[in-house]
Amino acid sequence: MSGYDVLAEVYEWLISDEKLTPAEFAAAFDDVIRLLPSNARVLDCSCGTGQLAVGLAGLGMRVVATDASAAMVRRAGELAEELGASLRKVRAAWHQLTDHFDDASFDMVFCVGNSLHHAEGAKGRMAALESMSRLLRPGGRLVLTSRTWELVRARGSRLDVRDELVRRNGRDALVIYRWEIAPHWEQEHHIEIAVAQVDADGTVLVRSELLSCWPYRYDELSSQLHSVGLRVETSTFDPEAEGYMVVATRV
Ligand SMILES: C[S@@+](CC[C@H](N)C(=O)[O-])C[C@H]1O[C@@H](n2cnc3c(N)ncnc32)[C@H](O)[C@@H]1O
Repeated sequence: MSGYDVLAEVYEWLISDEKLTPAEFAAAFDDVIRLLPSNARVLDCSCGTGQLAVGLAGLGMRVVATDASAAMVRRAGELAEELGASLRKVRAAWHQLTDHFDDASFDMVFCVGNSLHHAEGAKGRMAALESMSRLLRPGGRLVLTSRTWELVRARGSRLDVRDELVRRNGRDALVIYRWEIAPHWEQEHHIEIAVAQVDADGTVLVRSELLSCWPYRYDELSSQLHSVGLRVETSTFDPEAEGYMVVATRV
């Protein structure tokens, strides 16, 4: 069992209201999607429960969905089946992607939703970005979203208990994030995520996972993208904002 296999079962409680459906999730990337050729070949390489991948398939694209977690890949497949979307699914960690797909075979690669910090340290992140870059055709784009770790680290270790119950599939849950911030940037950090489902009869069912992550500064990410042959085309990075999106083109 890898990280996220437990959370996969309750992942909808972690997705924001505005991005719950595949169409809504894909719409959040309208600006980059419109740059794609018709019937583009795209890869979502940390697909989670598949909202983005299924949303892209719904737009007529040839979509491959990969993830390191078997449970996530299974759930992405279930969502595709439920909505009649055509999706190729493969369980693969980022460093394994080049074993499954040819170089230069995708028009766009997505790595979104606070995923990249799970790559192990600077070396693991470089290997992950290198795989993503190799799979892109020249001129193809990597679309990456990230937390602003500069802000997260400045806040230090803390407990973040959401102030409202989240309702999904007719069930309420309380979502808790516990942040374990290490003294130094390069050290392993942890995020513990708990989803406590509260049933009408008062029963509480808690599912939680302790996830490892390795934060990075925006400047470090930019320089790593450059090292793997990706040129930053647009970036929404703002040191005061919670997160940002980077679009980088394969040179
Ligand atoms: C926060 S979730 C984001 C999922 C989805 N992209 C979204 O936005 O809802 C992070 C995802 O990254 C995946 N992941 C973590 N480490 C990975 C790795 N080394 N290779 C591929 N996927 C990985 C997890 O299994 C999980 O599905």
